[in-house]
Amino acid sequence: MMEGYEKAAADAEERLAAAADLDAVAAIERELLGRRSKFTEAKRRLSDLDPGERAAAGRRLNAAREQMEAAVAAARARLTASGRADRYAAERLDLTERLPQTAPLRRGHFHPVTQARDRLEDVFVGMGYTVAEGPEVESAWYNFEALNIPDWHPARGSFDTIFVNLGEPEEVMLRSHTSPVQIRIMENRKPPIYVVAPGRTFRADTADATHLPAFNQIEGLAVDRNITMGDLAGTIDEFVRALFGREVKSRLRPSYFPFTEPSAEFDISRPDGSWLELGGCGMVHPNVLSNCGIDPEEWQGFAFGFGIDRLAVMRHEIDDIREFVNNDVRFLSQF
Ligand code: PHE
Repeated sequence: MMEGYEKAAADAEERLAAAADLDAVAAIERELLGRRSKFTEAKRRLSDLDPGERAAAGRRLNAAREQMEAAVAAARARLTASGRADRYAAERLDLTERLPQTAPLRRGHFHPVTQARDRLEDVFVGMGYTVAEGPEVESAWYNFEALNIPDWHPARGSFDTIFVNLGEPEEVMLRSHTSPVQIRIMENRKPPIYVVAPGRTFRADTADATHLPAFNQIEGLAVDRNITMGDLAGTIDEFVRALFGREVKSRLRPSYFPFTEPSAEFDISRPDGSWLELGGCGMVHPNVLSNCGIDPEEWQGFAFGFGIDRLAVMRHEIDDIREFVNNDVRFLSQF
């Protein structure tokens, strides 16, 4: 005759197959194998049996326990797998979904400053230059010293440098211009060198219609034999025309930068006949060449640098440079 627990074990599989969730499985398991189950009761009664009968009864108990445990494990596995499948189905993101098409999809495009930067790179690549980049966080050596601006030099003050709280005071900074890339290039390459280096630059300026504290510059550097100021003027003229058209002229005005000698600022002509200042330039100072291990007796060079954002403002006749960072799609989508 079958004991009560053996009957329960025989029915276990069928009952568990009907269990709807893991809680139901746990309840059935408690009923089959828990402290108040027929199984546990039978196990307790083992000690009342004669030693001779005990072994056979123990084997029957074990067989029933294994049967019930296997049925519970199978039910758990079934519900866990289907539970996961249900959850996945509920959480599914349909990335192919589209709103009903009332108008053609609108595509984005590059930011006008990125467009200006790309265009500038293309123009210079067309003139035989390569494109380089440098870090946005610089040491005083690259941002100033190697550029012939020692710490006592008044020009340091004019840069409104944003220092980084690292190392010695005023040793580490957000670069205030792209000119440190000149140094990094000359340290690593032998002339002849023809490189442009666009990138972000930073100054402790309050944003207004013509200034941003984080802005973009492009640096140009040419180092070769017999380079003159005439080559510099011709290069600037060439890229201004390539960018703005044949009718736009450029001019150089004497100026001062510690890292160029002679130095100039360059302007471009506007349709109304006035001039607009675009950037600085000059012949690379012999001290700067020496600082990079290049013999100034053998090599000469010119360098220039100017603001890309300013150029984009000009190109699109925008009256507030801050529009570039407000990121209002209605504004940006015009370009
Ligand atoms: N670095 C200068 C500036 O930011 C511009 C410049 C670059 C001038 C190269 C001369 C040569 O004002």
